[in-house]
Amino acid sequence: KMADDQLIIDAGQKHFGPVSCGSCGMIFSASSAEDEAQHAQYHQRLLERLRYVGWKKERIVAESFDWKILMICPDDPKYARRKAEEVRELVDAELGFQQTNPNSPARACTYLYVTSDKKIAGCLIAEPIRQAFRVLAEPPSPEDKSLERHRAWRCSSDPQPAICGISRIWVFSPMRRRNIASRLMDAVRSSFIYGSHLNTDEIAFSDPTPDGKLFASTYCAV
Ligand code: ACO
Ligand code: ZN
Repeated sequence: KMADDQLIIDAGQKHFGPVSCGSCGMIFSASSAEDEAQHAQYHQRLLERLRYVGWKKERIVAESFDWKILMICPDDPKYARRKAEEVRELVDAELGFQQTNPNSPARACTYLYVTSDKKIAGCLIAEPIRQAFRVLAEPPSPEDKSLERHRAWRCSSDPQPAICGISRIWVFSPMRRRNIASRLMDAVRSSFIYGSHLNTDEIAFSDPTPDGKLFASTYCAV
């Protein structure tokens, strides 16, 4: 077993109140047996899904010494598509998406960010689109407790031409704010249309979360 698969950190002291697992990111109460059992189950399932064993034929679209980004397309072998699907399910569960498929699953490509220790730390799903609607208003205030608050951006009613829609972008929570999402975006821009490089205004984010909007506005501004 790898060291970071360790479930219980036992330094002799008792933990009261919530603790956060450094490898799966779950926050739970270490003093509750029920919570710990739930964490153990979640932890194991998550790390299994995020493990990348490696394939003979990979489509690497960007890499450095300790990471690489793979692109998985609809015509790829089943084992690759199955892995992409597994990661998407996990991302959808975290985002609270009910809908089970991207808008056009038959044409969507999945990008996986894989670390040198064979873990998937980020995922992006991109699909071809023709138009997008610019977000106009700032997010509603946090005091607004309505359920729709998170998705209630106001959009312009006249469509702008666009080429690539980002239907999901996700980074494993312990690894956020280390440029992983930015690298995934750079990889999409240089690989989504063969032989061309997309500008940020040719890319649109569908239904962004508050995190997604903060990221997108920063990434697209540079
Ligand atoms: N708050 C404020 N600014 C942010 C945030 C944030 N949560 N996330 C990114 N930024 C800005 C920062 O300026 C950041 O640079 P800095 O860290 O030097 O300040 C810059 O964007 C680049 O950020 P990255 O490190 O490249 O982004 P990261 O790898 O952390 O991933 C992501 C961002 C994907 C939004 C991540 O927070 C995440 O997975 N969140 C949960 C899932 C989610 O909500 N995804 C978006 C769904 S919307 C959609 O899928 C279309
Ligand atoms: Zn854990």
